[in-house]
Amino acid sequence: MKKIPYIDLSITEEEYEKEISPYLKEIFMRGDFVGGRAVAEFEKAFAGLCGCRYAVSVNSGTDALEMALEAKGVSTGDEVITVGNSFIATTNAISRVGAIPVLADIGYDLLIDANDIEHRITDKTKAILPVHLTGLVCDMDKINSIAQKHGLIVIEDAAQSAGAVYKDRKSGNTGDIGCFSLHPLKNLAGIGDGGMITTNDEMVYNKLTSMRNHGMQDRDNQAFIGRVSRLDSLNASILKNRIINLDEIISNRIKSAEIYDSILKNIKEIRIFPKYSYRTHTYHVYVIQAERRTELMQFLDENGIDTKIHYPVPAHRQHPFAGRAENIPVTDKLSERILSLPIWLTEEDDLRYIAEKIAEFYKSS
Ligand SMILES: Cc1ncc(COP(=O)(O)O)c(C=O)c1O
Repeated sequence: MKKIPYIDLSITEEEYEKEISPYLKEIFMRGDFVGGRAVAEFEKAFAGLCGCRYAVSVNSGTDALEMALEAKGVSTGDEVITVGNSFIATTNAISRVGAIPVLADIGYDLLIDANDIEHRITDKTKAILPVHLTGLVCDMDKINSIAQKHGLIVIEDAAQSAGAVYKDRKSGNTGDIGCFSLHPLKNLAGIGDGGMITTNDEMVYNKLTSMRNHGMQDRDNQAFIGRVSRLDSLNASILKNRIINLDEIISNRIKSAEIYDSILKNIKEIRIFPKYSYRTHTYHVYVIQAERRTELMQFLDENGIDTKIHYPVPAHRQHPFAGRAENIPVTDKLSERILSLPIWLTEEDDLRYIAEKIAEFYKSS
């Protein structure tokens, strides 16, 4: 029986020799293990990817969110409107700066429902934090116009959406500040934890570069109490090379999604992603909505196919939210129906095998 893992991050020896080994050598020969040339070059390339003036590398996507919130002045008692169906890093980061996550509902594309934001705004609301979940950018025109009307900041959680396009803009450059993860599971995959913050604001850029280094303004003088949050040079040197291939990674994923779509759209118990002509989906995750999900997952598992759920327990059902009543019915409904299929595969046969097994499940039961 074919065995298909949800993801496979291993590489071949040949790929190692080509994609990793020369960069390891470069760093060891230069001896600049923290900061240095590789980090600066990768930041420049990342800013170019997003069409932003500045990109500041940090230790993780979670740090990127926390530091972006802090740099934009979000603090104790402020309310930040976001969603419950994200990785818990999103609501955690808001809470860690002392602010209160206020959850808006989502649409059937799994993204924040821009029509569900405005009535949640109070005099404590400071920011809107849309999450470009799965690699698809939220409805930013509507979100930005609500933010403008109410004087709010827009912070993009672009952790899953490096390279995604919304109209003529790139993810990370569609709000006031963008936050990315470079975790090995992401399309732009590091070799350890890593994150990036994008901005066009020089003052925010300067604040962030100090913040990630204890709040030092130069080698000897501290401007404020910061933290340590840096991207390793080794990681940056690999990422600097991988960013060149991001377009190819994305177009492979789009092709794979099209193969899934072509079969799954004919199954009445399955709903596939809606399509938008003005947004490029990067398919960090390929999600379907499925009837009888638990049985389907089990059937696929018995056939050697691993699947995951992003995310089975939304933030408002997690322990720290206990006692708060959140009225987000679509989030609740979809958390019981969503299922993520392996999307890293490039062999058409593997993708067809999975889609046809799903068809077989519904035909035979
Ligand atoms: C939507 C979202 N936000 C934030 C994060 C946090 O990123 P990191 O794991 O790099 O801290 C992730 C990571 O999975 C994510 O998917």
